[in-house]
Amino acid sequence: MTARLAEMFRMPQHLGHLTSSGTMANLEALFVARELSPGRAVAFSADAHYTHARMCHVLGIEGLAITTDDRGRMDVQALEAALRAGRIGTIVATLGTTGLGALDPLPEILAVAGEYGARVHVDAAYGGFFALIADDSPEGVASAPFAAVAQADSVVIDPHKHGLQPYGCGAILFSDPSVGRFFAHDSPYTYFTSDDLHLGEISLECSRAGAAAAALWLTLEVLPLTAEGLGEALRPGRSGALAWHELLRASDALAPFQTPELDIVTYLPTRDSISQVDAASGSVFVRAAAAPPSEQIHIATYAATAAQFAARGLAITPDVPSGRILRSVVMKPESGAAIPSIHARLEELAAIP
Ligand SMILES: Cc1ncc(COP(=O)(O)O)c(C=O)c1O
Repeated sequence: MTARLAEMFRMPQHLGHLTSSGTMANLEALFVARELSPGRAVAFSADAHYTHARMCHVLGIEGLAITTDDRGRMDVQALEAALRAGRIGTIVATLGTTGLGALDPLPEILAVAGEYGARVHVDAAYGGFFALIADDSPEGVASAPFAAVAQADSVVIDPHKHGLQPYGCGAILFSDPSVGRFFAHDSPYTYFTSDDLHLGEISLECSRAGAAAAALWLTLEVLPLTAEGLGEALRPGRSGALAWHELLRASDALAPFQTPELDIVTYLPTRDSISQVDAASGSVFVRAAAAPPSEQIHIATYAATAAQFAARGLAITPDVPSGRILRSVVMKPESGAAIPSIHARLEELAAIP
């Protein structure tokens, strides 16, 4: 199965396996990072998943958060300034941040990492499968970050996100198969019936459900990792996100926070100050869900800082350090048709003073 994922990223060779989650997969990547660059820090963007700071803590590695730009992507100049200090051994680039769906500029990150001798790990847990529609077309996504994955040292992708799997299915791929040496172990009860590499020899986790692998195999038989296969299941979400963004641009009651790079749409009730945006977002969030079951709308919130509002040119008074905005993922192919009515209802709720 990992061979198919590696092929999707056009990795010439790999060592990889399925994991029980994106967290476990990233833990393995950071474990290998620590073994290869002992005593050196791991840098990730301020908008990276919290798992990176947490796993750095678990592994006893220094974690450094790098500021993001006006699109929520790692700021390469800030990264370079941090690299100059000489402590960074590994950079984590996120392809599809959990909050905003931003794509860190991987080609530029690889270039600067090369200059300073740092390794690059890609956390594509959320966005990895968008590689299938990374064709720069109107319903596709940007090709450059995904084309660069093959040059990174490792990549995490979660089939239990856009790979249509139930929970329990992440994956880690390393571009250098020799990192398997860090997983070497011996025990009196370990025995092998063949000379092939066994899962226990290349993963941190021991027992795991085989059902996750079987389910992924079946899904990929039906929807192969091609633009016409699983890619066709991703395009409607991407188009739906762009269509919703256009509705938000034309709206008086709601405003877009930023242009979606994948299928995550971020928006806010039109208000004058961050505290008012926060209160209105909280109220829309609660009211949208408080309806009879067939009319409920479940949205999410994202805590944006005053600097993030300002970077996007939103003329909102920064009376408090941060405030909640609203966030929706157009993940199901059939969601597209419902967007106009969802948007209209959220506009009504946002207009309530
Ligand atoms: C970018 C990213 N990395 C890592 C994770 C953690 O993955 P999991 O919840 O499978 O442990 C997530 C989960 O949302 C994610 O979006």
